[in-house]
Amino acid sequence: MSPLELIKLARATRKNAYAPYSKYLVGCALGDGDGQTATGCNIENAALGSTICAEAAALSSAVAAGLGPPQQIAIVSATQATPCGNCRQLIAELAPDAEIYLALPEGDQFKTYTIKSLLPDAFDSLD
Ligand code: THU
Repeated sequence: MSPLELIKLARATRKNAYAPYSKYLVGCALGDGDGQTATGCNIENAALGSTICAEAAALSSAVAAGLGPPQQIAIVSATQATPCGNCRQLIAELAPDAEIYLALPEGDQFKTYTIKSLLPDAFDSLD
């Protein structure tokens, strides 16, 4: 799947975000490299710490659907934001080889990252 196709899916998913507190909508779409996708949006809660990030929602959906490790991750927000620290840790374990595309709600421009650049030396062992 091309990056822009996955970004389009993340944009559509972003429109379903439930973010009445921050008003900051995030959409995420994952591709397994074999045509299968999973999506997620942020879901806020009056107990603010119970908020679920878009990336966490998408990764949960991918695992539940039995997808293999995502090879591509598209994240769309109004500021082209990088994933938060908690989501970086989730990506490091569940999608270590993915290309990460950061995009805005409109336009063809996007930035590409790897999780190794965003979270070097991630915690990966309980030993
Ligand atoms: N958010 C995400 O969905 N992903 C991130 O990586 C960072 C933040 C959401 C959580 C909250 O609903 C809103 O953005 C503002 O922090």
